[in-house]
Amino acid sequence: MRPLRIALTKGRLEQKTISLLEAVGYDCSAVRDKGRKLILPVGNGKLEAVLAKAADVITYVEHGVCDLGVVGKDTILEYGGGFYEVLDLGFGKCQFALAGPKGKDFFGGYAAKTIASKYPNVARNYFERKAMDVRIIKIEGSVELAPLLGLADAIVDIVETGTTLKENGLEVIEPICDISARLIVNSASMKLRKTEIEALVEQMERAKEEKRA
Ligand code: PRP
Repeated sequence: MRPLRIALTKGRLEQKTISLLEAVGYDCSAVRDKGRKLILPVGNGKLEAVLAKAADVITYVEHGVCDLGVVGKDTILEYGGGFYEVLDLGFGKCQFALAGPKGKDFFGGYAAKTIASKYPNVARNYFERKAMDVRIIKIEGSVELAPLLGLADAIVDIVETGTTLKENGLEVIEPICDISARLIVNSASMKLRKTEIEALVEQMERAKEEKRA
């Protein structure tokens, strides 16, 4: 049988996941010295790490070509999907928020507002819950630019330290929800490789608790 394959979101979440896997006792030196390689052995081949963009982690896990994945709750909320979300890994903490120009009354007036976001589904759901009719424009990054350039009245985006908002004259209008990294599992793998997956999840959970203590 092939090793369990875990898709990691490249970048910050990848680094934190590697630290956690090392705390479990897995040798992650191949991932640390990866160069441009995208599939790497972990724990002397017990696991296989696949490095992907956040939304693709979901795609690979949904299609079952990766058994597990580590991805932010932001991506899960935006892309949804048919998989199990088994563990809040406790890192990659930030929040979704509605933000706009400092001191401006976003909720005042009757004209429909324009919202820029990298997460149009999250933005749509948020305004639907408020029964507010808005126009949503998808932006790929540095969403803070949209209200500065006059394209949008506000943004729905991730806020971590708040520095990007502050340095661009913006502020949180309303927090939407908390975000952190999650461990997800393909539904078929969960049945077919239950024992191995449960053992790994348990190990990762224990390592997470020990790191916190
Ligand atoms: C995210 C987010 C904000 C920023 C928030 O962007 O979209 O722009 O981080 O962080 P802060 O509150 O600590 O300033 P990211 O760095 O992922 O790049 P992007 O805007 O190109 O998506």
